[in-house]
Amino acid sequence: MMKHEALIDRLAQTHTLTLAEYEVLVAGQTPALAAYAAQRADALRRAVYGTDVYVRGLIEVSSVCRNDCYYCGLRRSNAACERYTLTDAQILECCEAGYGYGFRTFVLQGGEGVFTAAHVCALVREIKARWPDCAVTLSLGEYPTADYAAMRAAGADRYLLRHETADPAHYARLHPAGMSFENRMRCLRDLKALGFQTGCGFMVGSPGHTPQTLAQDLKFVETFQPEMCGIGPFLPQKDTPMGKEPPGSAEQTLYLLSLLRLIRPNLLLPATTALGTAAQDGRERGILAGANVVMPNLSPVEVREKYALYDGKICTGEESAQCRDCLARRMEAIGFRIVTARGDIRQ
Ligand code: 5AD
Ligand code: FES
Repeated sequence: MMKHEALIDRLAQTHTLTLAEYEVLVAGQTPALAAYAAQRADALRRAVYGTDVYVRGLIEVSSVCRNDCYYCGLRRSNAACERYTLTDAQILECCEAGYGYGFRTFVLQGGEGVFTAAHVCALVREIKARWPDCAVTLSLGEYPTADYAAMRAAGADRYLLRHETADPAHYARLHPAGMSFENRMRCLRDLKALGFQTGCGFMVGSPGHTPQTLAQDLKFVETFQPEMCGIGPFLPQKDTPMGKEPPGSAEQTLYLLSLLRLIRPNLLLPATTALGTAAQDGRERGILAGANVVMPNLSPVEVREKYALYDGKICTGEESAQCRDCLARRMEAIGFRIVTARGDIRQ
């Protein structure tokens, strides 16, 4: 047996490798090795989740952001970005529609620093009061510990905060000096300690990344043990400082999805919109590589173009119902099915 396949086998059995071994796996990617990893990952995912694919209704609540991340189209210095913030009534209408489509998780995602913690708490309480059988996921960036505690007490179930990269030097290349890797890590530790199902995640192929930085991301997931991990290829947005950088690869993203599944068999792992943007059948291939979550867009169609993290984003013209049907068809075509369930992590 080849050295790389042996490492995949060991990872599938023990769910741990050294940093150096992760780096060997990342650097050694070939089509054959990726196919092998996907096959092992698929088996592990089926053992935990069968052919169920969990669905999350994604509501992009605001394109306003106080941060200035070099890669992101919502960065505050981007004068070309049209800013909007949904009203509470609009957000609740999205939930109402989503509930009708069978979604039992709503993800409120937006730029950082728009909503006060008190506002978030009031929204969460209202959603939980109206749809008590639904999970609420927040993805609103960094807050102080006490604010996260209040959101959790208000009933929020999950929180997504991508770590973006686990390499502090690489983090500093992707973000201006005002943003700190240490605070990001503090937030993630807080969220976990508060009992949120916590999601981290990173971009694949962000400018300056190497097999070493990606190996650090894998090691971080192994040690942090998040409930969720969102990854997608870096895609340039033309009005950002990284707008002329080459995009990350769908193939590498798919391979990393498989490795993440091997690291944590019960991980909630989405086949992301960025992956579906990088390759026409990216989300289907993401599921086949080991993912088990999809996040159709529930945002009002009139704001979708404005939530432009990167160029070419799919689903900006479709109604929510179209995205729901489109994804259901795509999953069925590959032998999976979208389920009506909260979709909590299985232990
Ligand atoms: N390409 C790919 N993903 C991006 N994100 C932000 N900008 C880009 C981009 N240009 C991702 C980040 C962020 C999430 C909401 O979107 O990882 O955490
Ligand atoms: Fe939105 Fe396919 S998921 S159009």
